[in-house]
Amino acid sequence: MPSMAQGEAKSSVLSNKPNPKSPSRFSMRQKITEHRKSLPIASVEKRLIEEVQKNDILIIVGETGSGKTTQLPQFLFNAGFCREGKMVGISQPRRIAAMTVAKRVAEECDVPLGQKVGYSVRFDDTTSSSTRLKYMTDGFLLREALVDPLLSRYSVIIVDEAHERTVHTDVLLALLKKVQRDRSKAVNERSSETGGGVLRGCQGRKVSPLKLIIMSASLDARVFSEYYGGAKALHVQGRQFPVNVLYTVHPETDYVDAALVTIFQIHMEEKEGDILVFLTGQDEIESVERLVQERLQHLPEDKRMLLPMTIFAGLPSEQQMRVFAPAPIGFRKVVLATNIAETSITIPGIRYVVDTGVVKARTYDPNKGMESLDVVPTSKAQALQRSGRAGREGPGKCFRLYPEREFEKLEDSTKPEIKRCNLSNVILQLKSLGIDDIGGFDFIDKPSRGAIVKALEELRLLGALTDDGKLEKPVGEQMARLPMDPVYSRALILANQFNCLEEMLITVAMLNVESIFYDPREKREEARTSRNHFTSVEGDHLTYLSVYRELNEFLEKRKEENSEAKVDKIMRKWCKDNFVNSRSLKHARDTYRQIRGYVEQMGFNVSSCGNDMLEYRRCLAASFFLKAAQRQMDGTYRALESGEIVHIHPISGLFRSKPECVVFNELMQTTKKYIKNLTRIDPLWLAELAPHHYKTEE
Ligand code: CDP
Ligand code: MG
Repeated sequence: MPSMAQGEAKSSVLSNKPNPKSPSRFSMRQKITEHRKSLPIASVEKRLIEEVQKNDILIIVGETGSGKTTQLPQFLFNAGFCREGKMVGISQPRRIAAMTVAKRVAEECDVPLGQKVGYSVRFDDTTSSSTRLKYMTDGFLLREALVDPLLSRYSVIIVDEAHERTVHTDVLLALLKKVQRDRSKAVNERSSETGGGVLRGCQGRKVSPLKLIIMSASLDARVFSEYYGGAKALHVQGRQFPVNVLYTVHPETDYVDAALVTIFQIHMEEKEGDILVFLTGQDEIESVERLVQERLQHLPEDKRMLLPMTIFAGLPSEQQMRVFAPAPIGFRKVVLATNIAETSITIPGIRYVVDTGVVKARTYDPNKGMESLDVVPTSKAQALQRSGRAGREGPGKCFRLYPEREFEKLEDSTKPEIKRCNLSNVILQLKSLGIDDIGGFDFIDKPSRGAIVKALEELRLLGALTDDGKLEKPVGEQMARLPMDPVYSRALILANQFNCLEEMLITVAMLNVESIFYDPREKREEARTSRNHFTSVEGDHLTYLSVYRELNEFLEKRKEENSEAKVDKIMRKWCKDNFVNSRSLKHARDTYRQIRGYVEQMGFNVSSCGNDMLEYRRCLAASFFLKAAQRQMDGTYRALESGEIVHIHPISGLFRSKPECVVFNELMQTTKKYIKNLTRIDPLWLAELAPHHYKTEE
């Protein structure tokens, strides 16, 4: 039975549509207060604050859902850590976690988002000068350090979800160690010089010592504690009910299908309680969402009370909070999620977990310089976190869609991302922070020498670093300032010279979203015909461009007749008619606006090449020359940089025409190595536009 507190968590995100049955504002507030009091962390508020006051670095470990992320910042605020305009910053590995948690905390504080509580993530900043509790991605906080190296606006920085060990978290852990030292040094020097005067940081702000809190859901705090010279670790007791873990007898050949079967089995046979399903990405989640809806139609009328909901990184803002709302009475919710629901966010009401046993993860081969996003088995730690989600509110069940013997074979924990990703992005940032000795930098886990060398080389080829590894001015600085992978920042800078900046902005925005088209099973043929209408024989980048432009023209024409609110509806309709994913397009349009803002701030004039697609393709070649591939006699392709044999992904518009030479953006390993997002180029352009890398005979 859900307790009072859980009931509250649900009702607090009810929409503000008038509903005669909805509780009054007063009782809503009362319920929020009760919910907050009922969280395990509430009973240790005083102790936590004392420890923060006593220790400059504190490690806090606690079961997911105990209230660390939503409550601790509020405790700090109440204890006076935000006096004199100071902020508490909370970094999250995932943007969607930063966004949903900030919204929740604003609600708990009864303030509009963006005032006292706000979030800042790449391409979306809701904070204002009155923001005191600032949720952000770890990547965003790193970027702030570029502008304000002492992070002087923060009295406390909380690095949340540190167990995730994303590459940005790892860099942040090291950088904050340095910032903390620099700030203490600055304060000490200053007080010895002036007998207690204050030091001015960025924009003349007062500098005081920095408090650092590292939060993690995994029980192993040792690694963080040791890294910070034996820092104190505190454990927050959570509530965990027993979870019955079930395995399949045989390995499943199709985990998506197995997940569907399991969802319906639970729905038909198990007692009340919502279901949480772990899948790997937006495409898969949306396809399962449609399949659930389709199969529901075949059930008897009284068994159709199952409500699929989704949560993944690219979900538009206004749809994110829906998973937290309770299902209408009589309905069972089935939440289709990526690994974001493992520890980053807690969804109330879950009693059943379906674990496909896989996750999409980055892998990198520094020898070949090839990074790819692959679907791989989870670690044991991830599997345990996933099953734990079923036991938050009462005893639960977890269905692992693999045999028990497979579990034993899983890695204990996930390898830190810094050991399996392309480092060019972080190295460029460290360089622009003035940290030149990357090999000697105090990482918690050092990246391999090979990966560092490869990244330095890539940055040099992209024009961001000089031959002796120093930041190239102004190009390297400009690239570091843009919040995206160096190849894309480079592409924007080049596009400015090729007079196709408008087109490249659209390209970068479209490449930032996961699935542009959608392909409902029941309308495959229709979808294909519709897609053909956009498909360019020259390449996918041009195809995406025409989708974006056509939607723009369509909206432009209707601008006069319609209010802002209606635009959204018109857009959804256009997308549906054209088999385009409206969630993705919306995300891409927002991203476009944000990146455009950045380049305009940098003084770029956004010009368009109109229909001169030759110039645009040449610009793509000049930008993505490190990812060029040439057709071989047998119809496969050879990636020129790595020498690897790759195949054009069937989803690409160039799958059939197989041009002689292409540039591509994505490499993906499934049954074969596939390249995606490609455009045909003239091989001679490579020597002409990237002469420092290609010679004509190649
Ligand atoms: O960080 P930690 O995992 O310890 O917990 P939290 O994220 O602070 O969540 C505490 C509680 O707030 C959980 O019970 C969530 O269900 C609830 N919550 C919510 O109802 N809606 C949100 N958007 C976020 C959290
Ligand atoms: Mg948390």
